[in-house]
Amino acid sequence: MFVNKSRLEHLLPPSAYYAPEQHHRELDSLFEPAWHLIACRSDLPKSGDFITFDLFGHPLLLRNFDGDLRCFINVCAHRHSMLTHERRGHAPRLVCQYHGWEYTKDGRTGRIPDARCFRPWDRENAHLTTVRTEICGELVFVCLAPQAPSLADHLGSYWTLFASSFSPPYRAAWTYDASYAANWKVFVENSLESYHLPVVHPKTFGKLPPEANCEHGLDARFTWYRAHDDELAPLAWVAERFGVPSTRTYEHHNLHPNITYSQSDCVRLIMSVFPTSPTTCRHQAWLFTVRGERPGWIKEGFGWLLARAISRFASKVVQEDVGIYPDVQRGMEASSARGVIGTREERVYVFQKYVLDGCADRQHAAHASR
Ligand code: FES
Ligand SMILES: [Fe+2]
Repeated sequence: MFVNKSRLEHLLPPSAYYAPEQHHRELDSLFEPAWHLIACRSDLPKSGDFITFDLFGHPLLLRNFDGDLRCFINVCAHRHSMLTHERRGHAPRLVCQYHGWEYTKDGRTGRIPDARCFRPWDRENAHLTTVRTEICGELVFVCLAPQAPSLADHLGSYWTLFASSFSPPYRAAWTYDASYAANWKVFVENSLESYHLPVVHPKTFGKLPPEANCEHGLDARFTWYRAHDDELAPLAWVAERFGVPSTRTYEHHNLHPNITYSQSDCVRLIMSVFPTSPTTCRHQAWLFTVRGERPGWIKEGFGWLLARAISRFASKVVQEDVGIYPDVQRGMEASSARGVIGTREERVYVFQKYVLDGCADRQHAAHASR
């Protein structure tokens, strides 16, 4: 059942989906203080593997040093070049692409070509800027704000859930990374309601889940949706074979501002969306499926088939949603309507309130400090 019994106000005006001032307010208020999921351990499994990532205009480099994952601002201490422009790769040593300065895992300089040209050595400034990095299960989070609370505090009760969902017997089955011509909130709001299922997903989901089967949890920091569905019986059967909980339920959670997490028996899916401009965003997803703790050809084969089938399904659903984002964005930019939110979409209302309140708090704080 839904929490609200009557329609809700569409709190954000269309301009909130394209105005540069709103974009900057959201970056300052909602994103800079938060922890961000940018990778999964399996994205850089070997020592020397690295990925780069642009986080709100901050170029990052995340690298595996003998199993330790370290993240730096991807800018050399010598003359400011990006250390590398490659999106991902492998290199035995962390060396700047311009003049070859080398760095160690604590961000200090290693071998410097023709080092005597730099005497006396400026130890204080000759290092990379480290970015806070924490791991939960296999998920890699970073935070740009030195004073922000720890990842465990940021995630709250989700820390335990993510730690168990993204570690054995669950293993990475599918990853996704794409950019869209739409404001990040278009993506999040679409994920927060089941109202679009019959129209956007006629073949994959089809019907509207009956209200009696739907449960919503609404909190200022997060919202969730839970539905019992007997069509999930085959997944429940597989879960029993693998000795993991079987529930025949589907759950979807949104941890404000930009992490969505969903689970059903044997399947765990987490997504991040990042604003890249007022009207564009980047979406990353990691799908984990159960693969069994004890190797054996039946379970291994079964786990592999399951991973393939669920990955195909997830990819299809994502592609169906992707088709609607640019048109919602275009509509926002041309709209003179107020909009309205139905009770089935009440999680969208809570999300919009979070955005409004989060930006307003920061504005008040800024005014108060003047
Ligand atoms: S800018 Fe990196 S070594 Fe010169
Ligand atoms: Fe959808």
